[in-house]
Amino acid sequence: MKYNHFSVLEEEVLSYVDDTKPSIILDATLGLGGHTLSILNNKKSVSNVYCIDQDKYSISIAKERLEKYSKKIKFINDNFKNVKSHIDEKVDYVIADLGISSYQIMNMDRGFSFNSENKLDMRMDKSQILDAYQIVNSYSVNKLSEILKEYGEEKNHYKIANHICKHRERKNIYSCKELSDLISTLSPKGGRLNSSTRTFMALRIEVNNELECLKEFLDKSIEILNSGGKLIIISFHSLEDRIVKNFMKYCEKNCICESTKLICDCKKKSILKILTKKPIRPTQEEISANPNSRSAKLRVGAII
Ligand SMILES: C[S@@+](CC[C@H](N)C(=O)[O-])C[C@H]1O[C@@H](n2cnc3c(N)ncnc32)[C@H](O)[C@@H]1O
Repeated sequence: MKYNHFSVLEEEVLSYVDDTKPSIILDATLGLGGHTLSILNNKKSVSNVYCIDQDKYSISIAKERLEKYSKKIKFINDNFKNVKSHIDEKVDYVIADLGISSYQIMNMDRGFSFNSENKLDMRMDKSQILDAYQIVNSYSVNKLSEILKEYGEEKNHYKIANHICKHRERKNIYSCKELSDLISTLSPKGGRLNSSTRTFMALRIEVNNELECLKEFLDKSIEILNSGGKLIIISFHSLEDRIVKNFMKYCEKNCICESTKLICDCKKKSILKILTKKPIRPTQEEISANPNSRSAKLRVGAII
């Protein structure tokens, strides 16, 4: 089967991969394999790629697309936070292109999309128990409101949470479309975003525990990178980007003593040099060809 697939910031990621000496890469968010494919097509010195995805359906499509490089690739179906249990050598590049893929959104039965008549799902890993249906139909109004506020940065968090809870007293909310229609009754038409965008994002983050997994993964990725190795991360929303930015800044710091201290005794050493003082954004051309790339931010650091 052919997939119309765009990898975000593909050229920019490639520009950070050196082709003058053999290297080992970890693609922590394989998706349909776009970044790995472009690296293997363009950087002949890459000797091995570890490819992780928690979505086994994405892995099976990526395997087909990457077939000609199968001898160089090890596929791993797991959450990237568990990376250290699969890799017992150091790597030269860790690449993560966070979030979900268009393949997952477009697949109506995955229950990510506003228009889907299928059950609210949103699990990237289908073997996981918690799904969006359970959250929407069982979390208390306060808990729902809190995740909409924190993960969705939704101004109307309490109003939406309360409306959901009132509605489900009569009948559980089954599909994405049902939830999206319910939320749309609360807000005036014609905004730039669909009125459910922030709620759906918050639910997705909660279902997949995305922010905690990202923090764990960043810690582990530093431990498995060789000296001179690069950490290359693409994020799509401000919460993720803030975690990546703060993590890189912390790793770069040489001292974490309070500013009032005259003599440093923290023993903190800088372990990373940030190579992107400002995050790299897609060009206007890329955004026109692939509007989904518009919020992407790329940050890169090199291990000292
Ligand atoms: C934006 S897509 C990656 C697209 C890929 N770079 C490409 O060019 O085809 C993100 C992928 O990461 C996976 N993913 C997200 N969070 C993950 C996690 N914590 N562990 C493993 N895979 C994850 C998703 O299942 C999805 O397939």
